[in-house]
Amino acid sequence: VNVYHTLIPLFDSLRGDRVLLRPYQPEDAPALFEAVQESRKFLLEWIGFPVAHQSPEQSRDWVAKQGAKWLLREDLSCGVWEAGSGRYLGDCRLYPQNWDIRCFSFSYWLRVSAGGKGYMTEAVRLWSDYALSQLGANRLEIRCDERNRASAAVAERAGFTLEGRLRNQIATPKGKLGVALIYGRVPE
Ligand SMILES: CC(C)(COP(=O)(O)OP(=O)(O)OC[C@H]1O[C@@H](n2cnc3c(N)ncnc32)[C@H](O)[C@@H]1OP(=O)(O)O)[C@@H](O)C(=O)NCCC(=O)NCCS
Repeated sequence: VNVYHTLIPLFDSLRGDRVLLRPYQPEDAPALFEAVQESRKFLLEWIGFPVAHQSPEQSRDWVAKQGAKWLLREDLSCGVWEAGSGRYLGDCRLYPQNWDIRCFSFSYWLRVSAGGKGYMTEAVRLWSDYALSQLGANRLEIRCDERNRASAAVAERAGFTLEGRLRNQIATPKGKLGVALIYGRVPE
């Protein structure tokens, strides 16, 4: 299918009961950096995200680049915000693996103080429902380390099905090799 990717409609924001998702704006960089600062050690157990956020300037640069990638439909990272308070909670990213077959993958993290409240489950559900109903997604995927129970639990609560268990397919940021769990969600 030959489409102009920049013309694919996307939302300004997606609102759930308790969370709001929206693409990054330049003014979001300080909140993002603060959340990473608070959570650096926690996040680095599983994801390398904090490595690109060592200073407020680096987060500003990241946010600017995400804005460009959103416009190009190359990488669809959203900030996750608490609907009531407007507090920044973390990131929920839908990555287009292949626009032609409309296959996407998710990655996500929450600031450590926002864990244990169901925010990410709601965010992944919202983004997934939008991708299936509005972007014509044929496949959504979540890949996580088998030892990362919190991440696998998000996938399961968000309606994804365990499809595979790939040995030595994933490593922690510290380089510990592990089993990758592959979760998928497809249209009904
Ligand atoms: C993965 C990660 C986002 C999961 O965070 P989380 O807080 O466990 O996930 P949720 O926001 O969906 O919250 C679920 C928890 O809230 C509880 N909860 C409370 N109210 C809830 C509600 N209304 N709805 C759903 N869950 C609720 C659930 O019982 C669950 O708690 P439990 O783990 O004690 O059973 C977080 O651990 C993280 O950022 N990890 C580091 C980065 C990472 O690993 N990313 C994924 C890489 S593949």
